[in-house]
Amino acid sequence: GQDGLAQTPPMGFNNWNATRCGPEFNEQLIKNTADLFVSKGLKDAGYEYINLDDCWAQPRRDRNGKLVPVPERFPNGMKALAEYVHSKGLKIGIYTSAGTKTCDRPRGFPGALGHEKSDAMQFAEWGIDYLKYDNCNNNGIDAKKRYQDMGNALKEASEATGHPIVYSVCEWGENKPWEWANGVGGHLWRTTYDILDNWDAMLRNAKQTLPLAQYAGPGRWNDPDMLEVGNGGMTDTEYRTHFSLWSIMAAPLLIGTDLRKATPATYEILGNREVIAVDQDPLGVQGSVVSSEDGRWVISKEMQDGSRTVALFNESDRPQRISTSAAEIGLGQAQGYTLRDLWKHRTYQSGGTVSATVPAHGTVLYRVSADRNWKSYPPAADLVLD
Ligand code: GLA
Repeated sequence: GQDGLAQTPPMGFNNWNATRCGPEFNEQLIKNTADLFVSKGLKDAGYEYINLDDCWAQPRRDRNGKLVPVPERFPNGMKALAEYVHSKGLKIGIYTSAGTKTCDRPRGFPGALGHEKSDAMQFAEWGIDYLKYDNCNNNGIDAKKRYQDMGNALKEASEATGHPIVYSVCEWGENKPWEWANGVGGHLWRTTYDILDNWDAMLRNAKQTLPLAQYAGPGRWNDPDMLEVGNGGMTDTEYRTHFSLWSIMAAPLLIGTDLRKATPATYEILGNREVIAVDQDPLGVQGSVVSSEDGRWVISKEMQDGSRTVALFNESDRPQRISTSAAEIGLGQAQGYTLRDLWKHRTYQSGGTVSATVPAHGTVLYRVSADRNWKSYPPAADLVLD
């Protein structure tokens, strides 16, 4: 929408990848996550939204047609939970479906199809700041209409309560939402089916989203689905690749792991501010593929300060040297260039070559800037500055 929301990709947490509909999806998880956002520095790093996924609602609406939170999970209700999250300087999100029921099978909880105005108003009155709107049980009704109806309802509810709501269109890319979801009020839209905590699923979602760079920008983001970092199905090298790819794609960064059980390595990946700065760059450009020969991917993202972030991503199962140049990634002619390694936190200088030996399934992320103070540089080797 043109409402000034989500000027950079939303950052936060969503419980789905961590808990599905298990019993640990409850008020305690949400409150603990909010507390950890503050105590572990994730809030300071930019994480803001704490989002509830499917299975928060009772199977039936009440006699007034209102949604009712599951009392075993949320004994104090949603308004109190929203107040708690807000008291930490954070925001809270919720979930429902543009259908008769939500996606959880076999149960399925009440969907908002035909209840858009009332449900949007209820969310706004609870103090909800973000809605993920899913696509299950939609009776074959045109997607654009269904998402437009909720977009209108959220706009009305926002105006009535003075409370803006980020609108996440979870249509899975079936009807090319990148072409219309922003027009119906969406700030982000899923480009793919669900991510899973494995290399192939993560990569499939990345590859389906990389070609859609032209549709992204401030207030309108491609969403390759939530992060799996920390959930155990990939190595830390692979999780660094996952986080690197999401950041260079300017994707939403929604943590999908239970932070109460997260390792130091997981916190280090999720809390890497130099990588987060790539995702959150105010220019809002999604990175584009420069080349991808033999599993050697070069992806370049234009940054507001004129630099480029380049991902050298090795899809293959053996180490490979991946090389590009300042010119190829879109930088102008200069005497020399500064390369900042965003995972190693080291700075190098180069005469124009941008390359690294990248481990299997690994990614080297460089932020590359033209260096106007360049005096002399070694012709072949990179020079380590710090
Ligand atoms: C769909 C969505 C997921 C999740 C589940 C919940 O599969 O794509 O992200 O919200 O529903 O049931």
